[in-house]
Amino acid sequence: MQIINHWHIFATPALVAQAVCDDIMRHAQQAIYERGCFKLVLAGGSTPEQVYPLLVQRDTDWSKWFIYYGDERCLPADHPDRNSVMAQQAFLNHVDIAKDQIMTIPAELGNVEAARQYQRMIAEAMPFDLVLLGMGEDGHTASLFPDQQYPPDEIAHAVFNAPKLPPERVSLSAKALSDTRRLLFLITGERKKAAVQQWQTGFQLPVCKINPTSGVGVDVYIDDAALG
Ligand code: 6PG
Repeated sequence: MQIINHWHIFATPALVAQAVCDDIMRHAQQAIYERGCFKLVLAGGSTPEQVYPLLVQRDTDWSKWFIYYGDERCLPADHPDRNSVMAQQAFLNHVDIAKDQIMTIPAELGNVEAARQYQRMIAEAMPFDLVLLGMGEDGHTASLFPDQQYPPDEIAHAVFNAPKLPPERVSLSAKALSDTRRLLFLITGERKKAAVQQWQTGFQLPVCKINPTSGVGVDVYIDDAALG
């Protein structure tokens, strides 16, 4: 069963972003101190997009950071709707993380081939130190959508018929996203209110399937509008 460690509630999306940025930097510092590197899984979506530019302004040893993605949309590598392009523009192009420490999902190859290659690329990387995830209005997270079934032991799934465009995507599995020391959900905006209420009342949404193996539970960073 999913454990919620804490609901961190803020008045505005900007305050959520600021608090998430602080939390990421704390985890980075601790991971680098304890294990010599920081393995971070990035999310797509509008809420994470507000966090990334804040990270750029912080002081850290970027050479110790390793970047992964929770999901990607099957579009050309430089397409503006790719999660990787958003992360590059908002964050990665502005910091000194070596290119070979940024594990982009090769989604331009199509979902089946990209999932196969990404699985190989990240098999050695887990457990992650920190996973960031958003949540859609239907309770999806990464590209794990309601009513879609995947082999539970896969690390990366080829996703077809996603209800949010584009229909073909690659997603880390619930099992892989759970293989982490800490996990933060970033949720803002009134559109998320119904799904948040369903989540709180025990409705089985994709967000409920993620449960960090470290046992600390998930942390939800949310604004008043999404909480309702
Ligand atoms: C994607 C995302 C997806 C996203 C949520 C929330 O590529 O579509 O990874 O899971 O995080 O849909 O997106 P918003 O924050 O934009 O609502």
